[in-house]
Amino acid sequence: MPSVPFLDLYAANKRVETAFYLRLKDLYRRSAFIGGPAVETFERAFAAETGSPYCVAVSSGTAALHLSLVAAGVGSGDEVIVPAFTFPGAAGPVVHVGARPVFVDVQGRDGCLDPASVAQAVTHKTRAILATHLFGHPANLDALRALVKKAKASGQNIALIEDAAQAHGGSWRGKSLGTHGDFGCFSFYPTKNLGGLGDGGAILVKTKAHATHLRRLRDHGQAQRFFPEESGFNARMDALQALFLKLKLPGLRAGNARRAALAARYLRALGAAAVDATFPDAPEPLIPDARGISSWHAFVVHTPQRATLIRNLQLRNIGHQVYYPAALPDTPAFRAFATNAKNKRGEYPVARELARTSLALPLHPDLKVADARAVLSAVLSLPLPTTL
Ligand SMILES: Cc1ncc(COP(=O)(O)O)c(C=O)c1O
Repeated sequence: MPSVPFLDLYAANKRVETAFYLRLKDLYRRSAFIGGPAVETFERAFAAETGSPYCVAVSSGTAALHLSLVAAGVGSGDEVIVPAFTFPGAAGPVVHVGARPVFVDVQGRDGCLDPASVAQAVTHKTRAILATHLFGHPANLDALRALVKKAKASGQNIALIEDAAQAHGGSWRGKSLGTHGDFGCFSFYPTKNLGGLGDGGAILVKTKAHATHLRRLRDHGQAQRFFPEESGFNARMDALQALFLKLKLPGLRAGNARRAALAARYLRALGAAAVDATFPDAPEPLIPDARGISSWHAFVVHTPQRATLIRNLQLRNIGHQVYYPAALPDTPAFRAFATNAKNKRGEYPVARELARTSLALPLHPDLKVADARAVLSAVLSLPLPTTL
């Protein structure tokens, strides 16, 4: 039986293969492997693409979050608001800077932070909000920025850190995701909308001071070699990744447009099924806020019948992923932070519901329409009518 893979990384990378080999040869001979002109060129290109004044390339999305927290001055005794449902690694850096992650529930519609719950969770110790644009769907930046502004008016500085690791090319009110907060963190992990040949990340910032500080932090705290001004990290980007990402960047928009077209096809079919009595258990999709444009990193549905849905997909050899199997406060790493002064019982009903019921279906720029139809037919457990 023909299978539908969840992703097709080779297809995504094939477009730049020949051009990459040529540049790799040159890099190999010049032997400038870490940082250098290739990284600077990529930083300029990514800043231009997103309309950001500064881009600092780093070694991973996790490093981007970690360095942003340090640059924001977050440390021991501080609190950082983190979605209870996001990529599990995103909360690690909060603990590593000595701060306490304060988990906040997400919205059922898009899986992003629920601003009303964020407002309730803010205390005098809150120093940052880490807002994930989950699956590429933009978090409610109007509400989050208003909260930060209100805190500032009463003398409290709260940094807004956008976790745009899944959101390359997405926007909010026409402006790129990652450029609304104080820090915009990206991952170039191979499966991302802009994926590298290994790990990589970037931070978008608005001020030269932040960019200079982050460049120092990524290189052992040094502005001048062997003369660190502060304790830093080894979080530099390899030239090889920068070369490759620079070649792939021009294809990001077309790739996202293709994802959006496929997502629209899925949405149409699921929407039609939802009002059709033949499909009483049609899964519901997570959908983006209408003020933004999603990068459609993943197409995620939720259904109380997840086990049946998985079985249907497995029977037909169709790829799928549980994103994510647990709310963060329910994982061993973060259980100790499940309760806090504002959430004494550690209640995260939406995050827990999504962890129990959500499933990602295949969605990538090289997915064929016939394959998308096969996915839908498996999801609805019936041959699809030709109108869908
Ligand atoms: C939402 C989110 N945040 C952070 C990360 C961490 O990025 P990386 O794997 O590049 O460290 C990822 C991805 O992997 C992610 O999806």
